[in-house]
Amino acid sequence: MDVNDAGAQNHDLVPHKGFKLINGTHDPDDVDQIYDLEIRDSDVFVVTYPKSGTIWMQQILLLLEAKGDLTAISKLSKYSNAELIPWIELMGNRQTFITAPSPRMRVSHLPFQFMPSALSQKKGKVIYVARNPKDVVVSYFYFHKLANMLETPTDFDDFFERFLRGDVFGGSWFQHIKTWYSHKDDMNMLFITYEELIQDLQAAVQRIASFLGKELSAEQLAQVVTHSTFSNMKKIPQANYEQVPGELLSHHQGRFMRKGTVGDWKKHFTVFQSERFDQLFHREMADIPLVFLWDIEDVA
Ligand code: PPS
Repeated sequence: MDVNDAGAQNHDLVPHKGFKLINGTHDPDDVDQIYDLEIRDSDVFVVTYPKSGTIWMQQILLLLEAKGDLTAISKLSKYSNAELIPWIELMGNRQTFITAPSPRMRVSHLPFQFMPSALSQKKGKVIYVARNPKDVVVSYFYFHKLANMLETPTDFDDFFERFLRGDVFGGSWFQHIKTWYSHKDDMNMLFITYEELIQDLQAAVQRIASFLGKELSAEQLAQVVTHSTFSNMKKIPQANYEQVPGELLSHHQGRFMRKGTVGDWKKHFTVFQSERFDQLFHREMADIPLVFLWDIEDVA
């Protein structure tokens, strides 16, 4: 989520070609030009539906680049993770991307159709991080209270309905994941889930490093893992968006690094909401061979 945008205080979501952009945060013309960007083989895009582990992946990529040396990142402490690995769709960021030195690492919540077409010619690399959508709803609900560029929901039930309608930035979770997933073989893509990271962070970091062709010693990889656990990231201001000004994130409403677990939805969904969600999930995902973990007990 584009928390560094000082201009965004208007909550309007602006319909744009079947998607919704945030007024003042995204420029539709700029977003349209992302499709034609020239891509270098060394470019890396992390793609997520909101609240699926973007900041976590930013942290892991920064640490892999620094060979596990947290002090190298801390030297840049006036920047948050979101400035070090920015959103390509944030106003002005497409232009900066064009002239940035390699390796250019970016994150995006955009659906497939807006992203550089060169990715589908196996240029650059894409890491798609998916999270079980019931936990996404809960995480996103709390983020709407925190983020001043998004409308605060009346209550969880209200937000639940909005999410099911796809009436949020990111649109329909189902459309997002299905479209990206269906193109995964056209691209150099690593498809990974938030729950895999929770289950075995070391194995996940190893997979990410291999995918990116990063050669780190066992000790360096262990450092990457240590500095990207939830409890450690919570203590790192730049990984917790603490530098983001109060007018953008209402820090008194909660922390960006909130729960960091699997199955928090169970404390929020009613039985009826859960059953409705399950029905929709099975209908929408019938042809997608993805298995999600819904409970921390499944992860252990
Ligand atoms: S955003 O606003 O879309 O960029 O949010 P995003 O970074 O994608 O997702 C935020 C959620 O990811 C959790 N998170 C983590 N969980 C476990 N371990 C680590 N290291 C970690 N880092 C981030 C973060 O706590 C948010 O989830 P919730 O459920 O709200 O806690």
